[in-house]
Amino acid sequence: MFTTGPDGRLMADHVAVTDLVRDHGSPLYVYSASRMRDNVNALKDACESALPADRQPLIAFATKANSNLAVLNLFAQMGLGADVVSGGELHRAIRAGIDPGKIVFSGVGKNDDEIAAALDHGILQINVESEPELNRIADIARRKNKRARVAFRLNPDVDAGTHEKITTGRDDNKFGLPAARVAALYQQSQSDMFLDPVGISLHIGSQLTSLDPYAEAFQKLSDFVYELRNNGMDVRRTDLGGGLGIVYEDEDAPCLNSYAALIRDLVLPLNTEIILEPGRLLVGKAGLLASRVLYVKETDTHRYLVLDAGMNDLMRPALYDAFHAIRPAGPQREGDYMTYDVVGPVCETSDTFARARSLPPLHHNDVVAIMDTGAYGASMGSTYNTRPRAAEILVDGSNVAVIRARETLDSMLAAEHIPTWPASKPD
Ligand code: LLP
Repeated sequence: MFTTGPDGRLMADHVAVTDLVRDHGSPLYVYSASRMRDNVNALKDACESALPADRQPLIAFATKANSNLAVLNLFAQMGLGADVVSGGELHRAIRAGIDPGKIVFSGVGKNDDEIAAALDHGILQINVESEPELNRIADIARRKNKRARVAFRLNPDVDAGTHEKITTGRDDNKFGLPAARVAALYQQSQSDMFLDPVGISLHIGSQLTSLDPYAEAFQKLSDFVYELRNNGMDVRRTDLGGGLGIVYEDEDAPCLNSYAALIRDLVLPLNTEIILEPGRLLVGKAGLLASRVLYVKETDTHRYLVLDAGMNDLMRPALYDAFHAIRPAGPQREGDYMTYDVVGPVCETSDTFARARSLPPLHHNDVVAIMDTGAYGASMGSTYNTRPRAAEILVDGSNVAVIRARETLDSMLAAEHIPTWPASKPD
């Protein structure tokens, strides 16, 4: 949990964020294990109150939101599965102790090695997004003499009303297949002995704040499953994707009980196994990015708070104009609030975390926290401008663990080589 201590200090469970930065440096991702567990339990509770005990969904955490091994292991211990979108994420999920029988593999561009790894590990299902992909899976399964469990990703053509760059369920997105194509491929797979079509998946977008698009998508899914069954298909599983939004600023977060009630009303009657793929919901508010103030730079028109964290550490504001609350992590201080543009050191104008943000007076070396960055923060980080990736810390009560060491300059350069060409004779 992130709370404010009696002197105004920002606390991660029982540990002051400023102490963490003193001990582990800056910039620093800090995660709260208790908050992650609470997030999982809130979703489980909503499902338990709406759905019968023997029909509880498999919660497959969308690994891309936060793929640190320790985070995945925490979820593995709570019985969660994983939604992975690359061989790398599959490898992480298994290394972290997630049961392969609870792993689903999504994404439009799985390569042969990734498909082979999924089959070798015997994962729960591969979510197929195109006909050529299905053919590759069938070929590779045949070569291995295995039967690939596949689900087809339906593109329900629903507008999730989220940011243009993270909507996925419209027919002009690259994701999924229209119903008629899915029906044809389902049929084709049923007669292929190396394919086992298990069901339908969908995912309509991310950071949804209204449940209406889910209602529309689940209704379409339900109609479609009945249609498939009427045509003799065996549909045993429905994967409802992720997308539940969280409060970053002043949005209304969707109510989990209402979400579970939608599943009860629209999906439960299908009598399928149900899979959910939440990412952001489980980790977003369980993480922050702590950063030291390098400089306060005043120009004629602006006051810039220059941090030592940059867009390479947290891409969301630069990429989506995403809002993240920013607050001082140190003890409360007297003084009038001032307006700052909060920026990083990267040589791009878009390396801006916030514009015209009102904050108390801040000085060189003060620590600030960019809040709600547990999802799509570190996992989208890069080393742009040859900036080592930030360290990541997991706090659980009074326990503190470094779950990713700060990257070193040597490790950053280790894979690069200056070629030594054979000497060529001058012409
Ligand atoms: N399942 C599939 C197939 C997905 O593509 C995604 C996210 C999820 C589940 C999890 O969605 P969530 O529950 O986290 O909304 N980088 C963006 C978000 C991209 C989401 C991509 N897909 C951001 O920072 O907002």
